[in-house]
Amino acid sequence: MAPAMPQSQESAPAKGRFITFEGGEGSGKSTQVQRLLSKLAARGIETVATREPGGSPEAERLRRLLLSGAIAPLGADAEAIVFAAARIDHLDKTIRPALEEGCFVICDRFIDSTRAYQGATGKVDASLIADLEKVAAGETMPDLTIVLDVPVDIGLERARGRGEGADRFEQEQKAFHEAVRQSFLETAKSEPQRCIVIDATQPAEKIEQQIWRAVEKRFLKGDEDVGKPRRKAGASAAKAAKRPPRKKSGKIAP
Ligand SMILES: Nc1ncnc2c1ncn2[C@@H]1O[C@H](COP(=O)(O)OP(=O)(O)OP(=O)(O)O)[C@@H](O)[C@H]1O
Ligand SMILES: [Mg+2]
Repeated sequence: MAPAMPQSQESAPAKGRFITFEGGEGSGKSTQVQRLLSKLAARGIETVATREPGGSPEAERLRRLLLSGAIAPLGADAEAIVFAAARIDHLDKTIRPALEEGCFVICDRFIDSTRAYQGATGKVDASLIADLEKVAAGETMPDLTIVLDVPVDIGLERARGRGEGADRFEQEQKAFHEAVRQSFLETAKSEPQRCIVIDATQPAEKIEQQIWRAVEKRFLKGDEDVGKPRRKAGASAAKAAKRPPRKKSGKIAP
């Protein structure tokens, strides 16, 4: 069952918006997350930058376990369940409280990465992925998902920070990365209200402009109050959530 949404003490609907960035390695997610955070801040909008796996103290602990390889011997299903456990805490402690406060939550990877990396590559049955998604995210689906699309070779080259072609090992992994890319594109096609696909081979400035146009069009036209946190008495929900520290600009703490 989906975890209960925290109840606001105020009757006005939350003004927060939930934006996720998806795409393969080196597609430019982190670059564009930072650019969008700056633009929102310039507009006077409170933001919370977060990421998956992780994004809350307990979820960051699970992230370290997942990335250390300690969970892998338990099998792909168990690994997917741990990803979902981390997501439950991330949503409960970080994302929902921030949305309730009226913040724009910008998340680097979310459910579509699980669909792609655990699901589409055949490691975990799609029905388990879908069930875990319902349990973890419930009603808290992103308002907008930006899929940054680049050919696998370009993404891998960028991610590794060098201009030469992929080595033999990377070539062998190409089918995997190609399946990941196709999964993101298929999700975007099947959920066009939520997702936009951006050609991420373009210069970063151009991508930034396209993202900003989409954000403005969806969230900032004709509602001057959007994104301005509705301050409650006492500690903010963000503080109560004891999120991992983040820089003032909204950058994710390392
Ligand atoms: N549009 C762009 N054109 C060329 N290079 C870019 C562009 N966007 C980002 N880069 C560069 O590509 C590299 C990878 O970018 P970035 O770290 O933002 O990708 P990412 O999607 O977050 O990767 P990862 O999945 O590994 O976290 C960085 O060196 C970045 O400066
Ligand atoms: Mg990144």
